[in-house]
Amino acid sequence: MADPRSRSGTTYIRESILEWMRELYVPHDEALDAAFSAPERRGFPAIQVDPLEGRFLGLLLSLAGARKVVEIGTLAGYSALHLARALPEGGRLWTLESEPEHAGAAREALRSAGMEDRVEVRVGPALENLPALETHAPFDAVFLDADKGNYDRYGRWAARFLRPGGLLLADNAFFFGRLLEKEPAAEAVRRFHREAAPLFESVCVPTPDGLFVGLRK
Ligand code: SAH
Ligand code: DHB
Ligand code: MG
Repeated sequence: MADPRSRSGTTYIRESILEWMRELYVPHDEALDAAFSAPERRGFPAIQVDPLEGRFLGLLLSLAGARKVVEIGTLAGYSALHLARALPEGGRLWTLESEPEHAGAAREALRSAGMEDRVEVRVGPALENLPALETHAPFDAVFLDADKGNYDRYGRWAARFLRPGGLLLADNAFFFGRLLEKEPAAEAVRRFHREAAPLFESVCVPTPDGLFVGLRK
């Protein structure tokens, strides 16, 4: 059924416009360039956030004044570098990654960027590493970008350990366009949305694959 508020069917997103915007708003220095190109260089999946999204995540952290931040899903550290650069002096980012090779690449990228004193990369399935972080709670922001089949669990963890007013961000909120399909991971992402919506002042920004943005009530 057509939603009368919908403008869908029209998208003005064009690769040429995105390239122009990236050059203007997210000029890469050497460190961002190295982190961004690391997945392809090393034969990892190149599924890092778009530079415009990475910059947006950093700006949201700045707006929130975030000092203690958790990222779930590091890959080679590109989004982590945007997050880390948004932290104030004394701020800290814990980023969780299950693949040791990804974590190693991220540590290298973050070290070359001079961020080693404010970022900790923890290796292993996130669900196994989250409990050890709880001693640092409450957190100011949590960014979800790992296995979508666990988004419901990650969302529950975030709701529990974010401070009131704390920021929850989640990439791939449209689950690659398959959000409404009958498959376990899609169902987990839908549960994430249904549980988070009432607990957070929140919305999904219609980036190409959706970005959940919420403030813990
Ligand atoms: N946020 C990164 C991209 C993350 S891609 C960036 O924008 O630069 C998703 C990452 O999550 C992959 O590196 C994958 O290995 C990792 N991952 C998948 N399942 C995981 C789990 N259970 N725990 C922690 N990391 C996981
Ligand atoms: C995949 C994961 C992501 O986080 C993403 O933004 C794009 C693709 C993936 O697992 O294929
Ligand atoms: Mg993603």
